[in-house]
Amino acid sequence: MTLDQLHLLFFKNYEEASLAFSPGINCFIGDNGSGKTNLLDAIHYLALTKSAFASTDAQAIKQGADFFVVKGSFSTPPAERPETIQVSLRVGQKKTITHDKQPYDRLADHIGRYPAVLISPYDTDLIRQGSEERRRYFDSLQSQLDHEFLELLIQYNGLLRQRNATLKLSGSSQGFDALYLQSLDDQLAPLGERLAALRAGFATQFVPVFQRHYLQLADGREEVSLDYKSQLTGQNFRHLLLANERRDLALQRSTTGPHRDDFVFLMDGLPVKSYASQGQQKSFAIALKLAQFELLAQRTQAAGAALAKPLLLLDDIFDRLDDKRIARLLELVADHTFGQVFLTDTNLDRTNQALAGVSSAIKQFEVQAGSVRAI
Ligand SMILES: Nc1ncnc2c1ncn2[C@@H]1O[C@H](COP(=O)(O)OP(=O)(O)O)[C@@H](O)[C@H]1O
Ligand SMILES: [Mg+2]
Repeated sequence: MTLDQLHLLFFKNYEEASLAFSPGINCFIGDNGSGKTNLLDAIHYLALTKSAFASTDAQAIKQGADFFVVKGSFSTPPAERPETIQVSLRVGQKKTITHDKQPYDRLADHIGRYPAVLISPYDTDLIRQGSEERRRYFDSLQSQLDHEFLELLIQYNGLLRQRNATLKLSGSSQGFDALYLQSLDDQLAPLGERLAALRAGFATQFVPVFQRHYLQLADGREEVSLDYKSQLTGQNFRHLLLANERRDLALQRSTTGPHRDDFVFLMDGLPVKSYASQGQQKSFAIALKLAQFELLAQRTQAAGAALAKPLLLLDDIFDRLDDKRIARLLELVADHTFGQVFLTDTNLDRTNQALAGVSSAIKQFEVQAGSVRAI
């Protein structure tokens, strides 16, 4: 799968832009603040219907405008015709996404069809931040790999919202319905248990792939791992909900369940966050992303689309990573582990040097304050 063309309208600092890409490596070169990462984010929108950075879609609308459009044309041999994906948002309306002009009934139907993996300087945030970031990261990955998981997650989150709303009502005199709470719990329990089982299964599949990538990136002999932690392990969720009902009523939120799960990052059995060096943390984060890439590539291959490797988005890697880790990433680029690549850098000479030994077709773009042209 390759992204052949990209069109932007009022997206972030772009008023209008049209780009035609190489199926190999595409380099966005420009000063800080010119709009390089915004181009990667536009591609991220096409793949995952949302920004990789901003928490709300409205932030992607160019200041002063009242809508944005991101349109991409993908080709997936052997299909002869390219497919067009368009994401758009108008202020005050729902985001829409269309496939060949047909709106999806649900955004979820798009997830996993056009996979992309972003490697960015912010990846180590996954290590430093709280469990919510890690849950969101692994949920997003697992949703792309497994449609059952995505559907389950959507259902679970919907029921959880209803349960929390019901708990809130218990504080007021009006309308709290204990029977309704019980019926929500009856529905929530099997979904939560299945979710936890799927997450545990995913972790088992993910860890060895991740460990192999870490070993290839790092010099040391430290052993890294990822430990899936859930309150549900070995527990009956319906019983847990019941046992915590009084506390949930007092706090007016649901204090147990897979929405509290964590994936704990470990190095030699100790927390990566406090134990690992900066360099080890960077390797850890890149290994997570490379494992993500490998699993997504395997899945699309299993689905029969031989060329459907995920798009790889590399943000500022020459600037932020040391030579050894860059060299490893470029080895993978050179041996065609990756398919189509999009990368950003501030320095054209540095990019040319780094890519000197790479045989793929390379296309370069100059980015200047919200305008971009091929060079
Ligand atoms: N909604 C928006 N409207 C206008 N400008 C925006 C919007 N969102 C981000 N920007 C601007 O885009 C600029 C370029 O951002 P970015 O792509 O991160 O640059 P870089 O080339 O350093 O990666 C920033 O100066 C930012 O202020
Ligand atoms: Mg940037």
